Amino acid sequence: MKKIIIAIDGYSACGKSTTAKAVAAALGYTYIDSGAMYRAVTLYFMRHQVDLEDEEAISHALQNIEIEFRSLPEYPCKAQTYLNGHNVEEEIRSMEVSRLVSQVSKIPQVRRFLVAQQQKMGKKKGIVMDGRDIGTVVFPEAELKLFLTADLEERARRRQAELLAKDQVVSLEEVKENLRTRDLIDTTRSESPLRKAEDAIEIDTTHITFDEQVEMVLRKAYHKMMCYQVAPCCPTKSQA
Ligand code: CDP
Repeated sequence: MKKIIIAIDGYSACGKSTTAKAVAAALGYTYIDSGAMYRAVTLYFMRHQVDLEDEEAISHALQNIEIEFRSLPEYPCKAQTYLNGHNVEEEIRSMEVSRLVSQVSKIPQVRRFLVAQQQKMGKKKGIVMDGRDIGTVVFPEAELKLFLTADLEERARRRQAELLAKDQVVSLEEVKENLRTRDLIDTTRSESPLRKAEDAIEIDTTHITFDEQVEMVLRKAYHKMMCYQVAPCCPTKSQA
């Protein structure tokens, strides 16, 4: 079957990465968490106290950043994020990084740096990438684009539970405030703001189970893959 690119965008903590991971595993595709890349850059900037107003310092810092995803036998389902050769998977998910990541992500130099790497990763297709600008900027030609949404309250509850599972105790109010602030910065920034691509299919995950969510996406993916197999001229903008 022909390999496609699946782009999953949406607001913070609405289930993009868990869905993307499961869909990629079912299809034998590579999953790429573009948010992890923005988080890794943020962690580097925090550690090196990079002034977010200083373009020269930012350019210099970016030259010293290398991000990779590596699969380890102990985490077969989730590639780990490496920053300059060190596993930073845990640290990039901390609230400290979450508080700053959207400020870093709105810097045009940072976006250009990461978008170029993400586009390279998708050259051979067969990937599922999630983020904020995947269907609009990184892969505007993606065969399947999804835009996930969910109620803020529900998203905050899910994220709080994820943090708790990693022994990070954060109040629901603080999590909610962080998601609200990030969504605001992400949707209003001048460079590639978060928005639904015209040809993206919107899925509200508030009231559906994780299995239903994955099944829905897989059905759409198979449809696209079959569609490309039998009819290469199949219109990419159909919302089948
Ligand atoms: O997991 P969660 O939805 O909370 O966020 P994430 O996907 O890890 O992304 C963290 C932050 O990175 C977002 O709030 C955005 O500011 C930024 N981001 C972005 O600007 N563009 C992307 N393609 C992915 C993430």
